[in-house]
Amino acid sequence: EKPWRDVVEASKLEKNWVTRIEIGPRLIAIYDTPSGVYASLALCNHGGADLCDGYFDGHVIECPLHQGAFDVRDGNPVSAPATRAMRVFETRIENGMVQVRL
Ligand code: FES
Repeated sequence: EKPWRDVVEASKLEKNWVTRIEIGPRLIAIYDTPSGVYASLALCNHGGADLCDGYFDGHVIECPLHQGAFDVRDGNPVSAPATRAMRVFETRIENGMVQVRL
């Protein structure tokens, strides 16, 4: 099983919004929601746009390029032209740090 990695202080996350984090060569999107924190690859699997520049509402991230949308809880596409689940990562908050299993 992959180890948990500290990625950002939970207090640095924008409330109910998406925060872009660089981890090595990877861009990760961290989503703060009322039901917890979620994480996915930041680049849209439809055309490579940065989801962190998109619009986040509830549990749904809308891509800024073609307005495809994904549920950040499981990665499933909820709006065309997104058709494939995006890659999501297990996420938790420990001692004030957001941790992700990458
Ligand atoms: Fe995201 Fe097309 S690049 S929907």
